[in-house]
Amino acid sequence: MSQPKTYSEAIDEIRSRLDILDAVQSRVVLKKRGANYWGCCPFHNEKTPSFCVNPQKGIFKCFGCGEGGDAITFLMKINNQSFSDVIKDLAMQFGIELPKSHSDNQKYTEEKQQIKDLLEKSCEYYHNNLLTLPEAKGALEYLEKRGITRDIIDEYKLGYSKKGYTELQNEFKAIFTPTIFEKAGLTVQTEKGDNIDRFRHRIMIPIKDETNTVIAFGARAIEANQNPKYLNSPDTVLYNKSRTLYGINAAKDSMIKEDYVVIMEGYFDVISAQAAGLKNAVASCGTALTVDHVRLIAKYSKSRRIYLAFDTDSAGLKATQRSTDVIKEAFTGLGNIKMFDRSYSSLSEDKYTCEIRVIAPFDSKDPDEYIREYGIDAYKKYINQAPLLLDFEIEQQLKNYKSDFSPTDKLALVKKIMPLIEEIPNNIVQNEYIKLVSDRINIDEKALIREVNRSKSLQNTIETSYSGIVTKSSNFCEKAQKNLLSLFLADVNKNNINYLSENIKNVKFIDKNLIIIKEAIDKIACQVNNEVEKIIQSLYNQFAEDNELKDIITDLIYIADSFKGLSDNDFKAAVRENKAKIEQYHTDCEKKELASKYKNLNDDDVESMQFQMQLREKIKNKQTIGE
Ligand code: CTP
Ligand code: MN
Repeated sequence: MSQPKTYSEAIDEIRSRLDILDAVQSRVVLKKRGANYWGCCPFHNEKTPSFCVNPQKGIFKCFGCGEGGDAITFLMKINNQSFSDVIKDLAMQFGIELPKSHSDNQKYTEEKQQIKDLLEKSCEYYHNNLLTLPEAKGALEYLEKRGITRDIIDEYKLGYSKKGYTELQNEFKAIFTPTIFEKAGLTVQTEKGDNIDRFRHRIMIPIKDETNTVIAFGARAIEANQNPKYLNSPDTVLYNKSRTLYGINAAKDSMIKEDYVVIMEGYFDVISAQAAGLKNAVASCGTALTVDHVRLIAKYSKSRRIYLAFDTDSAGLKATQRSTDVIKEAFTGLGNIKMFDRSYSSLSEDKYTCEIRVIAPFDSKDPDEYIREYGIDAYKKYINQAPLLLDFEIEQQLKNYKSDFSPTDKLALVKKIMPLIEEIPNNIVQNEYIKLVSDRINIDEKALIREVNRSKSLQNTIETSYSGIVTKSSNFCEKAQKNLLSLFLADVNKNNINYLSENIKNVKFIDKNLIIIKEAIDKIACQVNNEVEKIIQSLYNQFAEDNELKDIITDLIYIADSFKGLSDNDFKAAVRENKAKIEQYHTDCEKKELASKYKNLNDDDVESMQFQMQLREKIKNKQTIGE
């Protein structure tokens, strides 16, 4: 018989040879009755048989204690072994050789390795081009003009791609197939079907992952009329731009040490900053910041202190706003965001889930230009004084005030500032800000307080009008479900996992796939004594055939990264908050349903009037619970 090539093929082979009757009968005496075999359950104490095996379906079930599963689960439980250990034993027993690579097949792994090799070699090749070719002179001069020294070129392995259409391919076609070029993102197909080099006549910036492996390139135009200004690698098996931060390889150690990160806009901002000694600078690569980027950051900066260093022109301000929303979304359910600086700190708890500051030098130069012109020390001063997000946003609005503003102008400005003030969770601090704002734009403080209060009560009526509540919270709810599941994978102490299991038991999940995974994780976790690696492995094995579920599991593992290293208290807080979010969702749904019933009733009908009264009562109760 030929040996299986992949781990999952091996498991299939083992499953097909494993007879559940053989497996069970070595431990339990069974008697046949109809299609099933019965015996006394080995998992709990009993005198009359309630343990049943169905050989056709290949499953067992105990009607006394509820245990059940297939032959492999039986062996795991009875021997107290992990899935992979059971597989190992069975493989030996059946004379099946287990392939080394677990999750993926050998071919895939080999191909990935080739893609890595090609990218690494291309990186060297481009770099050499820049340093040696006469035709790269323009590129070299351009870099020089930007203040990029020879040392920086070497350290960041900057390069040059030639003008020709197949230069890179000619260089390496003896070692790599066209498929590898394409899968590495280094070639594109023309309409005629020819493969041409993706990057031509550009400055090449290698993008590396956390392990210092080249996974992609960013490529800057050299000529003014060359479009686009930046051309980037497409997503590949190695490179997912929504999960990659440029500069992370050089930044990660310093992110741990300094416990903060500076997110910049472009490749050259990061290069300038890092080269000047500000190592903890990163940038997203040609995309807006994503939740996954933020999670990557959280892996290194434990306090999640994030400094945004985007431009202060209107596009930059929008990017700041968008990124802020993304950061808040990434930490939903983990606690509060730090809003005030030290002066108010006695008013709120000292621990925050994250801290967002904005670096905005006065003449709105980007970090690259600023550092080149004034030096890194001047830039670091801005970092040290960087305002928290709230202060930055309010100041940003106040800057628009002019002393000759008419009452209407002032009102328009107040309308923009109000939402910021309303966000402030503490009344005393809120009043401080009201004072500050009314002083600065010369309006009556009491009037502003009244406006804020009126807007608050207005918002309450909008919120209790039910419309849109459910859609608004359904995203949060999906996130909360995923958060809870990923906490299982966050490698924390076993008591925490028990706390989690206990708390998640009665939470009603909504998403079909997440329900399946929830049930699986919950079971597996106790089988493998909460060991994370084993949970992950058996999850993958269990859902080896289901790509959709495997994707979700991968996502969960990724989310779990950002939960790693939480203190016990934070862990429990995260469990409670996410659980509360899901419960809130259910409450909202019920409210909405009640409300719609209420609307459809006919006023004339006595019976329905009674019903209306009951409903009103119910809705009132729900509201007080929900708030
Ligand atoms: N970018 C991109 N594609 C473009 C333009 C920009 O991917 N067509 C990304 C790149 O990651 C770039 C970042 O956006 O580094 C910022 O680009 P830009 O706003 O144009 O400004 P700079 O970084 O100042 O570019 P440079 O200094 O090279 O002129
Ligand atoms: Mn720039």
